[in-house]
Amino acid sequence: MQNLETEKFLQKLEDSFQKGKFVKLTLSKPRIKQSDLKNIIISPVKLKAGLVMHFVFRYKTRDEVKNFSIEESLLQLPGFLNNEFFNADMYLEGENHRLLFNRKNEAKVLIQKVDIPAPLSLEHNRIKERVIETYGNIWLRELGVLNDKWQVRHEMKDKFVQINKYIELLEPELLRLESKDELKIADMGSGKGYLTFALYDYLKGKTPLKPVMYGVEHRQDLVDKCNDIAKSAGFDDLHFLNGTIEETDIPDANVLIALHACDTATDDAIAKGIKGGASLIVCAPCCQKQVRKEMEVPGELSGLLKHGILLERQAELLTDGLRAMIMEVYGYKTKVFEFIDLEHTAKNVMIVGRKTVLEPAKKDKLLQHITHIKQLYGIRKHYLEELLGM
Ligand SMILES: C[S@@+](CC[C@H](N)C(=O)[O-])C[C@H]1O[C@@H](n2cnc3c(N)ncnc32)[C@H](O)[C@@H]1O
Repeated sequence: MQNLETEKFLQKLEDSFQKGKFVKLTLSKPRIKQSDLKNIIISPVKLKAGLVMHFVFRYKTRDEVKNFSIEESLLQLPGFLNNEFFNADMYLEGENHRLLFNRKNEAKVLIQKVDIPAPLSLEHNRIKERVIETYGNIWLRELGVLNDKWQVRHEMKDKFVQINKYIELLEPELLRLESKDELKIADMGSGKGYLTFALYDYLKGKTPLKPVMYGVEHRQDLVDKCNDIAKSAGFDDLHFLNGTIEETDIPDANVLIALHACDTATDDAIAKGIKGGASLIVCAPCCQKQVRKEMEVPGELSGLLKHGILLERQAELLTDGLRAMIMEVYGYKTKVFEFIDLEHTAKNVMIVGRKTVLEPAKKDKLLQHITHIKQLYGIRKHYLEELLGM
């Protein structure tokens, strides 16, 4: 039988959920010490169909995740509270409630008032529309961008700005993509996955496109972590694969992305996109070393490029400018623009190529132009040309 304290606790949970003040509920201290189930963590998640409760069942050696409606959750919780756990901590906007059972199954509730800097309510989150929403966003929380109250952590503000900017910049190009049965996306060098998760979340939640997305990353720890988070967030068509950009193929990818992949790894990714006929190629290059090593300063520019930093910039400009021109030779209409201002990150150039058809006469002119630029700077070959057999 349910005691009064438990009933009041569950009533509070229901009210706070309806009012958008519910942050998190954790069940801990299993009643049976040997139990395989150690904790349950429940948080609200905003899905296309509406708000649901996201349950993470923490077993000794694995996690299981499941979403339930509020009604389903309220049906299950009394069983967990009365039979499985001694402690339940409910975190709400402005206060925390702790339900404690003793060995005689007597319950008491402790209430603690807490200060939170900004009101956290469903209304608040609806008004402040962002491309990537924060309220109930599990992947943002698991990646450490949000705290337990779904607020952006102070030290992650720049990252959050970058994530939103990324989607805003790509939005016009993404919306031009044809809505096929599925949109296959390869994100080469996905790292911790911030931008990979963001793009998947946006496409799945805010467009009619059906993304099937693969992050490719050579660090196994990052791959494992990202796959765990994708599972927790219920992102069934987002997968992270362990491998190198050079050796991993995602056949028939419609979109090929490489953001901040080091040096020539960007060229490897672009070449894969071109060879595979991707409709869209997106890259944000970093540490452009190959051209820098080969290039010689033309005599007439020696005064201009005698300073190391300017020489470095010129090498970057040549590397990325030639990349864009080579993509154009293969029929990609390119745009090169600032990804995000320098205040946030120094790696700030983005090249986007959209597949079109190039007239043969224009192609010949472009090839001559590329040859001329390379001759001017004594560059034998751009690595991307080598990869494409040009
Ligand atoms: C600077 S991080 C960028 C991560 C992410 N794309 C972003 O922009 O936020 C580069 C990531 O690419 C991975 N990486 C670099 N070269 C790679 C290669 N050749 N094959 C696979 N992964 C690579 C690194 O391990 C790292 O996690």
